[in-house]
Amino acid sequence: MDHFQLRNGILHVEDVPLPAIAEAVGTPVYVYSRATLVRHAQVFRDGLSGLSDPHIAFAVKSNPNLAVLRVLAKEGFGADVVSGGELTRALAAGMKPADIVFSGVGKTHAELVQGIEAGIGQFNIESEEEGYELSAIAQDRGVRVACALRVNPDVDARTHEKISTGKRENKFGVPLDRAASIYAALADKPGLDMRGVAVHIGSQLGDLEPLETAFGKLGALIAELRGKGQSVTHADLGGGLGVPYRKDEVFPTPAEYGAMVARVTADWSVRLSFEPGRVIAGNAGVLLTRVIRSKRSGNGPPFVIVDAAMNDLARPAMYGAWHDFDAVQPTGERMTAHIVGPICETGDTFAMDREIDAIGAGDLAVFRTAGAYGATMASSYNSRGYVAEVLVDGDRFAVVADRIMPHSIMDAERVPEWL
Ligand code: LLP
Repeated sequence: MDHFQLRNGILHVEDVPLPAIAEAVGTPVYVYSRATLVRHAQVFRDGLSGLSDPHIAFAVKSNPNLAVLRVLAKEGFGADVVSGGELTRALAAGMKPADIVFSGVGKTHAELVQGIEAGIGQFNIESEEEGYELSAIAQDRGVRVACALRVNPDVDARTHEKISTGKRENKFGVPLDRAASIYAALADKPGLDMRGVAVHIGSQLGDLEPLETAFGKLGALIAELRGKGQSVTHADLGGGLGVPYRKDEVFPTPAEYGAMVARVTADWSVRLSFEPGRVIAGNAGVLLTRVIRSKRSGNGPPFVIVDAAMNDLARPAMYGAWHDFDAVQPTGERMTAHIVGPICETGDTFAMDREIDAIGAGDLAVFRTAGAYGATMASSYNSRGYVAEVLVDGDRFAVVADRIMPHSIMDAERVPEWL
């Protein structure tokens, strides 16, 4: 069941027609569907039904909006956080501290302290040095913190190079061949309860094979650690499952993923954790935008200039990513166009030579699959504001993030007296 459907020729999110949101909140605006988030959470959970008591920690970085986190907290999800700011959000949204995992390659001293004080469930340690620092802080406070060691399995995730994290040359985790000795060194440190291992090889994976290879290496490491007398009771398999950005793309389902995990981990005897982000939030949101005007230069297709820009949705400019673009009230006519934003960079281009619904000045349209890594990656470049966010639930909707106007951003700036 898709909760983004045309009804009487008008695109709805659940039971709300998108023009009503544009009217009330303005554009550009991210619009999320609660029913879709819940459905994706259920499908993911169902996919893991062959495992005993899996722990699911939503990757907050993919969509940190408080209301979105609250929806997932109510589904029993915990959180995978990578900064103090994300930790604060997860707690504010109602996620239980014990269900929060703190990942991240550069946790600061203050963030390690914050995590300990919040009583989070697990730190995923990314280097020996980080482990020693965490040990000292924990010892100071007379506590023992649960930790997993993130390993870099040197596996090519076959995704975009900027979102690949499991190759030897990437900054994440500790090299597999040093993992056992680092694990042993950290297990000897006071304040640390080394209880497991973690891996995450990249995002938007279209194929389960690299994941299976990485998990296989993790399984071998668990056996090696146990062989050396270490205790391993937990394993965190990260996130990474890709989603279709184009209507005709096919991706592994959570059920296929879960079946592969069940097979590979059958004899691990650990509690497994997962950190899905995109697969939960990606197709639960759209970016609603309005066409400012069209213009032609030369003989090529027209430029359709929309009021959303690369500062609101960075993925096309950053990764050359594709987002489907559909009119909110399609007429059935089609056209070929370049879709661009108003920002003064050629990189502010959403699509070139794209066949789209015929559309013109004043018309509404959506970029699809914008629920993950959308609003969260926004900036205020060109002194634009921060885009608003709306959550739909059946026939009601609420603004779940105010539009931050350029003047509010300016209000935080100071011109020193001596200028
Ligand atoms: N766990 C860790 C440790 C991660 O680094 C990530 C994503 C996830 C989980 C969630 O991965 P997911 O299930 O969402 O694939 N901005 C990029 C994506 C960056 C992903 C970074 N790490 C994009 O827009 O495609």
